Amino acid sequence: MRIDILTLFPEMFAGPLGESIVGRAAREGRVEILLHNIRDWAHDRHRTVDDYPYGGGAGMVLKAEPLGAAIEAVRRMGRPAPVILLTPQGRLLRQPLVEELAGRPRLILVCGHYEGVDERVRLLHVDEEVSIGDYVLTGGEVPAMVLVDAVVRLLPGVIEGASLEQESHHSNLLEHPHYTRPATYHGLTVPPVLLSGHHAEIVRWRRHQSLRRTLLRRPDLLEEAAITPEERAFLEELRREVGLQGTAQQASSAPPRLLLATNNPGKVREYREILRDLPATLVTPADLGLDLQVEETGQTYTENAILKARAYAQAAGLVALADDSGLEVDALEGAPGPRSARYGGQRNSRTRYQLLLKQMEGLPEARRGARFRCVIAIATPAGRVYTTEGVCPGRIAREPRGSGGFGYDPIFWLPGQGKTMAELDPEEKNRISHRGRAGRKAIPLLREVLGV
Ligand code: ADE
Repeated sequence: MRIDILTLFPEMFAGPLGESIVGRAAREGRVEILLHNIRDWAHDRHRTVDDYPYGGGAGMVLKAEPLGAAIEAVRRMGRPAPVILLTPQGRLLRQPLVEELAGRPRLILVCGHYEGVDERVRLLHVDEEVSIGDYVLTGGEVPAMVLVDAVVRLLPGVIEGASLEQESHHSNLLEHPHYTRPATYHGLTVPPVLLSGHHAEIVRWRRHQSLRRTLLRRPDLLEEAAITPEERAFLEELRREVGLQGTAQQASSAPPRLLLATNNPGKVREYREILRDLPATLVTPADLGLDLQVEETGQTYTENAILKARAYAQAAGLVALADDSGLEVDALEGAPGPRSARYGGQRNSRTRYQLLLKQMEGLPEARRGARFRCVIAIATPAGRVYTTEGVCPGRIAREPRGSGGFGYDPIFWLPGQGKTMAELDPEEKNRISHRGRAGRKAIPLLREVLGV
């Protein structure tokens, strides 16, 4: 392929087009990129290429004469080719257009500059107008580099064929997540299916992840995606699970979604209550079919809460709320603390609190002081993180009482209430609990990040 680029700044192209894959493709002769300085066709004393706009207004306009002459001269230098003007007013550059352009033997790219080009150049000398996105850059040079990069990597022999077929946007779906070694990074593990060696299962998992990501992040792409009837059914199911009613509604009026990053049904119930005034749809990992194994390797509640919130926000493409909480007992110098859920290596909460009661055996009232602490982390898919904290003071009871709540609730005595945490009704618990307190502090932050 041959690409001619008309620009006022040919030096800008040396780095981006000389390096890496595009540079290699040029050296291997798969693409020939020719730069032409528009100024070479300006024949007045000052080699003027721009002038003030008729009718007044800010900025300068690229003059018709030198630019038109440059385009026609370059056009005659080789075989016929479309002349493409890079401009924010053009057709949006998306992968199907890139594929179409990659099929042409020659392209002529014109980089506009200043406020724009004289309208008569568009009418007489330009065949197509292309924009790389809905924002305005200082000129068409960077857009031309983007277009060249996207086109050249599709040329035969430039990139391995298999990697092109799988990639994002090829089938109008976003790509599945990728992992490489190590198997654990900052406590985040690789989904077990990828280590299973079961090829068919891996292909299926990846396809489902692609569909899920596209539905959650870019539902607009699904309208043109090549999807089997079975996959369509899978998407319908997923839409129902996450409470999506289709793309139009989501874009306009549906409330934003907040992911509660926990698999503990007791916590989910409490958060639904604590956050009931937040105008958002609360979804759980199970609702999204998300199965993340986040190892809580942090030394503090805050670290663990952030680890979880970040991992879920990234995986789901949603704002995620995670917490880490624990019981701090004065007589045990603050233990079990952040290790509350794994205290003594016990798997269930009953054996954990029984172990704790045993350690506290015989201690007088004055030495039974304790508190529950909860840290909430809110993470956005882009990686911003906010935290809040709530504390609920109390004592360690002498024996478990009550059947509400979860975890250490039956042995946490609240002198002000004359009850254990497990004896409170849910509303009262949320009013005084560590989670309720941290959760209420989180509401203004959530309003801000969700834009509600
Ligand atoms: N020139 C300035 N901004 C542009 C954009 N977004 N796309 C193409 N050309 C441009």
